[in-house]
Amino acid sequence: MNINVFDIVNRFQTELNKDIKNHSTNWSNHISELRKLIDLALTSMPSSRQGLIFGAGNCNDFSLSHLASHFEYKLTLLDLDARSIKRAIENEDIEIKRKTSVIQKDITGLFAAKHSKDLISLAQHSLESEKILNKWLTSDFKICSPYIINKKFPFVMSSTVATQLVASLGPLINASNLSLVGKLKSFAEKVSDSHVKQIAYLLETGGAAVITSEQYEWGHDEHGNYLPTSMYVSDPTEMLQSTVQNLLEQKNLSLPGRIEREHLTNAGLQILHSSEWIWNLVGNRHYLVKGWVVTKP
Ligand SMILES: C[S@@+](CC[C@H](N)C(=O)[O-])C[C@H]1O[C@@H](n2cnc3c(N)ncnc32)[C@H](O)[C@@H]1O
Repeated sequence: MNINVFDIVNRFQTELNKDIKNHSTNWSNHISELRKLIDLALTSMPSSRQGLIFGAGNCNDFSLSHLASHFEYKLTLLDLDARSIKRAIENEDIEIKRKTSVIQKDITGLFAAKHSKDLISLAQHSLESEKILNKWLTSDFKICSPYIINKKFPFVMSSTVATQLVASLGPLINASNLSLVGKLKSFAEKVSDSHVKQIAYLLETGGAAVITSEQYEWGHDEHGNYLPTSMYVSDPTEMLQSTVQNLLEQKNLSLPGRIEREHLTNAGLQILHSSEWIWNLVGNRHYLVKGWVVTKP
């Protein structure tokens, strides 16, 4: 049987985006904090020819018209789920439609046909699972190609995308096998590190990028059970305190695949500004988000 993994993951992301769209009315704090970073990056970029948004999805956390109006040529919106982006553009006026272009691509390259045998093997919880993850963790296994697009941009944004990049792999791993869970976490770390390097490559010298990433989650899971952070945190705003963050680090309660400051500096990016805030994603599920405006010296 010929299984197209890209289509399966695309459908998963489309359903997730449809579901999340209904909750974005509560995102005012998240949207306004992100907007401050976007505005700072827009004033720092060397030219206003074109911009690139990774994981644009529903285009809920930024204003399409505000961003597109800053570019003389094009705002490129990239996501695995092109349908959600197209739906968002449909509501905009003709000038925004002219200024935006949509690219349907997998940021990681993991869902290409050449990896489908391994992905299916993982989904079947086969004895090969450990071997597959070991192979993915080697330096020979390349992920998040910098050549995903054949040009460079004065402005790039990747907002709350990194932890999503391997989220669809979680259910493929047998959670009772702690060694596999640990390896998947290491792979998520490799993917986010490579994604930051991909952003750095696609940014013009002197260009400005906005990068944000969830660090810890607090609230209930989908079955109404408290998440492990609730043992140490009684109110989500406590996650803004450095002592609480240190405790959550000690307890190993950070989110797999998050971007940290070290990823940015390792990729040769210079931090112009950083901030952090609480994002109420859905229901009582809250995230501590860290965000940066960076440049490529
Ligand atoms: C949390 S959303 C970002 C929020 C989005 N900017 C918005 O306002 O709706 C993460 C996005 O990353 C996309 N995504 C996840 N994995 C991806 C992959 N491998 N390649 C491309 N996009 C991916 C999802 O489809 C989703 O739209």
